[in-house]
Amino acid sequence: MAILKILQYPDARLHRVAKPVSEVTDATRKLIADMAETMYAAPGIGLAATQVDVHQCIVVIDTSETHDDLRVFINPELLSTEGDLKEHEEGCLSVPGIYDTVRRPEQVKVRALNERGESFTLEAEGLLAVCIQHEIDHLQGKVFVEYLSSLKQSRIRAKLKKRLRETL
Ligand code: NI
Repeated sequence: MAILKILQYPDARLHRVAKPVSEVTDATRKLIADMAETMYAAPGIGLAATQVDVHQCIVVIDTSETHDDLRVFINPELLSTEGDLKEHEEGCLSVPGIYDTVRRPEQVKVRALNERGESFTLEAEGLLAVCIQHEIDHLQGKVFVEYLSSLKQSRIRAKLKKRLRETL
């Protein structure tokens, strides 16, 4: 396994739209293992392949406190969303140190393939529902800060660019 490099906002590659995985192979499973290791090491609760510059529809999530409940979503599709929009403070491994409130539907139903290529559907609510929506956004080239006001977005971009210059 290997720890992969996570793209940092505002990197244009974060806005690429991922392609569906046509066949789940050993290479897919190797990527998933590396993505999980990268997520746990960060540490984070979700990671989309887009964030490691692989533009395939793959997401890993683990919202458990014990870090032993890895969920894999290949070609995830939101079948439906339900409930009121709920505010949740979000952060992102590609936008380090920035947290802000995003409103999203409370419940989701998602269909995806697991790492063996089998189809499953899952109904989720709470943190897991937030996380699933956040990660599917990544696959569509969308970063959570794009839900914020344009003023906030430009402040965040300026802050992260400055930080990047300081670490070079
Ligand atoms: Ni993210």
